[in-house]
Amino acid sequence: MTAPTIPADLAQWCSAQAVRMQDELFDFLRIPSVSARTEHVSDCAAAAQFVADALTRIGLTTTIEPTPGHPIVVGEWRGAGPDAPTLLVYGHYDVQPAEPLELWTSPAFEPTVRDGRIYARGSVDDKGQLYLHIKALEAHLAVRGTLPVNVIVLAEGEEEVGSAHLEQFLEREKTRLACDAVVISDSTMFAPGIPSILSSLRGMAYLEITVRGAAGDLHSGMYGGAVVNPAMALARILASMHDADGRIAIPGFYDTVQPFPDAVRAQMRALPFNDAQLMHEVGVTALGGEPGYTTLERLWTRPTCEVNGLLSGYTGEGAKTVLPAVSMAKVSFRLVPDQHPDAIAALVRAHVEQVTPPGVTVHVENLHGGRPWRADLTGPIIEAGKRALEAAFGRAPVITGEGGSIPVVGDFERILGAPVLLMGFGLPGENAHAPDEWISVENYHGGIRAAATLLDEYRAAVG
Ligand code: BES
Ligand code: MN
Ligand code: MN
Repeated sequence: MTAPTIPADLAQWCSAQAVRMQDELFDFLRIPSVSARTEHVSDCAAAAQFVADALTRIGLTTTIEPTPGHPIVVGEWRGAGPDAPTLLVYGHYDVQPAEPLELWTSPAFEPTVRDGRIYARGSVDDKGQLYLHIKALEAHLAVRGTLPVNVIVLAEGEEEVGSAHLEQFLEREKTRLACDAVVISDSTMFAPGIPSILSSLRGMAYLEITVRGAAGDLHSGMYGGAVVNPAMALARILASMHDADGRIAIPGFYDTVQPFPDAVRAQMRALPFNDAQLMHEVGVTALGGEPGYTTLERLWTRPTCEVNGLLSGYTGEGAKTVLPAVSMAKVSFRLVPDQHPDAIAALVRAHVEQVTPPGVTVHVENLHGGRPWRADLTGPIIEAGKRALEAAFGRAPVITGEGGSIPVVGDFERILGAPVLLMGFGLPGENAHAPDEWISVENYHGGIRAAATLLDEYRAAVG
């Protein structure tokens, strides 16, 4: 096969339209579509409408589907005919909360370019990466008046809060959403200039643990030492989740973990990675984790238990002598094949109840969960992805894993029976979920060219 290239007609159109395509993304980024906050319900609706309008304008048939949460947008283009394959593009228009606001160099919802990067909440996760696919479709429709394959665009607004209503939507609409492959850009490249295809995602079980003691806060001198302290009890419960070496100590936790195939581990070990660079990137002087695994293996192939948030007692200025009545922790478990989120949640609950000391009560609430995923990495969509990325970035992609979660990926395979290509255009240090989130200008436009080329390559690969 010849070396892949970007079709010249599309490449030329993309350069001519680059400024406008970036301006449109800026309008999208200005909408504060924070799915976690009720005060942003109407902003999420506005972002859904923005996506729907963008799809309608370029020639797709579009509907906005209400859910008990934020709406789902579906765009369809069936002009390639019943014999052509159908590609489904998935992305999310919701974003994480922007707090702490004071740590942003420029305001979170006022997109700003500095040093070749577009800074804004959602720039990389995932509005920029969703919108680049819409612009790739536009390139084809504007230049050629047609697409080489049938296309469905599915944009949801609840990814950042666990995609609670998407699975049932896929079940309900599986005839309409029937497709031959799915492409998602909601992840990162291994390094600048090194395009990447993801081979795995971790799953998730997210729990909230509340410990209650006395009916109200108490004077810590008058009662401390005799009344059990819920903050200390919670600290013990949390500490009991790992052993001294860093392995998770919840009985049964590792029972269903399947080791990653040797070939995949070998590929990971071949990637140029060094711990010192990661330490520098995040600003720490040592790393820690499960013994017996490299850093990339810990991140991509092993399950974890992490405290995401802790609350108890007096946290204001100075000292207050108080024995708190309540303590709370948000705890998430990243899962790997074949751990099931509900089964893990049940094991955690049993363990927590077992280790909770007398004198306090504990309540464990299941907030959300998602299955882990591992790709097969064969077939036309993967081959097309490799060629499209090579065409757009000038070198063949590497195969990477990922520590994060996109709960719906497993559902696409299970419910729609379609393989998923994950080609992301973020970069290490992109600050997703943090202040100063950015996407590189080069990758936004490179992503448009890769996504546009993918359509031709996919059609050619299917034959
Ligand atoms: N885009 C991320 C997932 C991701 C992060 C993929 C980094 C690849 C690289 C997604 O928006 C996300 O943040 N997912 C959540 C899922 C959770 C809310 C169920 C996550 O991983 O925390
Ligand atoms: Mn995302
Ligand atoms: Mn995210």
